[in-house]
Amino acid sequence: MEVVPSPNIWYYPDAYERENKAQDVEGDIWAVLAENVPMAGKDVVDVGCGAGFHLERLAATASSVTGVEPHPPLVRRAGRRMAGNPKVTVRKGTAQRLPLADASVDVVHARTAYFFGPGCDPGLREADRVLRRGGTLVIVDLDTRHRPYGDWMLADLPHYDPDEVDEFFAAEGFRCHRVRTRWRFDDPAAMESVLRIEFSAGVARRAVAETLRINAGRDGSDLFLPVGYRVLVRDKPAGLIHSSVDGSPRMP
Ligand SMILES: C[S@@+](CC[C@H](N)C(=O)[O-])C[C@H]1O[C@@H](n2cnc3c(N)ncnc32)[C@H](O)[C@@H]1O
Repeated sequence: MEVVPSPNIWYYPDAYERENKAQDVEGDIWAVLAENVPMAGKDVVDVGCGAGFHLERLAATASSVTGVEPHPPLVRRAGRRMAGNPKVTVRKGTAQRLPLADASVDVVHARTAYFFGPGCDPGLREADRVLRRGGTLVIVDLDTRHRPYGDWMLADLPHYDPDEVDEFFAAEGFRCHRVRTRWRFDDPAAMESVLRIEFSAGVARRAVAETLRINAGRDGSDLFLPVGYRVLVRDKPAGLIHSSVDGSPRMP
């Protein structure tokens, strides 16, 4: 698992900022996080933090937040965004090599983190290394099973197998919460500018046309798009666990 190119945010950071503002307008993902991943007073790391969009919200309750991002222009952008917030630090690094000490954080959070999927074992081990006992790894990603957005994703990802992805995370001990959200755009131009950075030209044309159809007959110029997410949660055992090899206790 190396740095995975992210053409959307790497090449179109302003449109990606618009996308982040459009996402989860009713706070459904945050509600699932509040219920399953307590962050109040905790030390949190946001892996693949991009331009740092979620850092301030995480820092609203957390004790400290470290944003980790491999792409230097985004490290700088996130650093500028959070300058002056004493709770937040931004550092260059990757999921498989976090610039953090062993057992130094309570929550590892990664959002729209397609670098976490089958084959990401080094990143999962690294998260376990930096987590304290009882800490939590939470991965928030788009759900290709949710229509219509999932269909558009799959049209561009012919080798992506939703069953394989679900089986991988289940085998790794994650609980999966499927969350239905809505994205909201101020007008059709904003919607189009976002969908164009997410999909190939043909799929983007289809996505724009379907989104206009979904919103046909609505009053006003704003548009809504239903988008599903998976919130994957894995807790690190809090105390002694039993080794499967000889049954003797060992430290997690
Ligand atoms: C789609 S963006 C999401 C950014 C941010 N989490 C957000 O929600 O605004 C994915 C980010 O993951 C970063 N990334 C790619 N490969 C990575 C890796 N191996 N470890 C950590 N971050 C990675 C990219 O540079 C990019 O900033």
